[in-house]
Amino acid sequence: MASTDGAAQVLVASNRGPVSYDVREDGSLHTKRGGGGLVSGLSAIGSDAGTLWVCSALGDGDREAVRRGVGEAGVRMLAIPADVHADAYNGIANSVLWFVHHMLYQIPLEPVFDAEFRRQWASYETYNRAFAEALAEEAAEGAAVVVQDYHLTLVPGMLRELRPDLRIGHFSHTPWAPPEYFRMLPDDVAQQVLSGMLGADRLGFLTQRWADAFTACAEQFAGGLGGTRVGVHGLGADADFLRERAHEADVNERIVALREEIGTTPDGAARRTIVRVDRTELSKNIVRGLLAYRQLLDDHPEWRERVVHVAFAYPSRQDLAVYRDYTAEVQRLAEEINAQYGTPGWTPVVLHVKDDFARSLAAYRLADVALVNPVRDGMNLVAKEVPVVSEEGCVLVLSREAGAYEELGEEALAVNPYDVVATARALRQALTMPEGERAERTKRLAAAATALPPAQWFLDQLNALRAG
Ligand code: F6P
Repeated sequence: MASTDGAAQVLVASNRGPVSYDVREDGSLHTKRGGGGLVSGLSAIGSDAGTLWVCSALGDGDREAVRRGVGEAGVRMLAIPADVHADAYNGIANSVLWFVHHMLYQIPLEPVFDAEFRRQWASYETYNRAFAEALAEEAAEGAAVVVQDYHLTLVPGMLRELRPDLRIGHFSHTPWAPPEYFRMLPDDVAQQVLSGMLGADRLGFLTQRWADAFTACAEQFAGGLGGTRVGVHGLGADADFLRERAHEADVNERIVALREEIGTTPDGAARRTIVRVDRTELSKNIVRGLLAYRQLLDDHPEWRERVVHVAFAYPSRQDLAVYRDYTAEVQRLAEEINAQYGTPGWTPVVLHVKDDFARSLAAYRLADVALVNPVRDGMNLVAKEVPVVSEEGCVLVLSREAGAYEELGEEALAVNPYDVVATARALRQALTMPEGERAERTKRLAAAATALPPAQWFLDQLNALRAG
């Protein structure tokens, strides 16, 4: 057990941790540090609380670091065997639980819960148990443990059995499936997921909608919440960090390069931009976004040559064939639109698939319109980041199925993400919005988007967990 005195200690558990390692050609280890809400949230606690982040080794570099005993203070990486991790992460978390919560199945043919699924489920249990045991070993008497996400749904229940003295929280960064979709899971698996979650003292969700969906599942399939409390914490954008980072030299350089790619109209005027930035994630709806843009060019020839769709679709979960296929379809469709409408001086879709945070910020700065049209999304931080960084004001075209819609819906142009014609109409409305209105809306969007910055988001959860 850690030496820090009890209740002040905070432990975080998540699949992906704040650092990762690569083995270089000369055999040395190279450390990469991640960002994101959790990293900046955790920094709010300060270092004297004996904070510990328990995460999984994800690649060979991470496993090598664990083997060599290399690590960062405050981080414990679990070297779960690669095959067990692959089954749990790719097989169950990303191919089943992610699909259920985002309602991504093509129902006529999937899901199929067969013997292979059962084998992978056993790995998911093993992987969750490894986390529960590590947390039980590390936590001081009465410490607070905040478990993150769908990868670790069984941990609260397992940990509760091992260490009834702990304050256990769980936070979901995804939507939660409504009962009629959740019940697709085999009954015993659905039970295990719910009782795992209900082992927590408190469950956090990004929006009321996802919290209500969980509560409905618990009521219908687990006899209710029992003593578990449910709360909502809508993670906001980190305005200070973003505004500063967006004006560093590398971002300025990217702006120049992007302007070059976007070009000017034949009579020399600046072109308008419709910007999107996503991981190439099945739920992000990048393909229908491109279809809507094509519809705009079809319906409104006056916008040809005058607008560019700047689409950044960064690689994600490339171990899964369905993600690779989706990435290929995004590229194919972008090329098709460029072949159909492009001219020697105008590339209608500027697509980049190589992750570059500085370039994303550059695109945020110059965006006239931001397109955020997921079919379902826990929150969507891009919708919150663009208005904060935007220079001239940016109209947000926002899916009503994104968690962010709960907070930003009034100032955005809302779309049904499946309706390509309506999305095209919203894009046009966005492009033609008077400057004054655009600037006013952006100001209000930025205020709503930064209402709960990461540090406060994390502290609120912690305080609520300890208060119960
Ligand atoms: O967006 C939801 C989320 O669970 C995030 O919390 C997390 O960053 C991401 O998805 C997981 O993605 P990955 O599979 O790349 O770790």
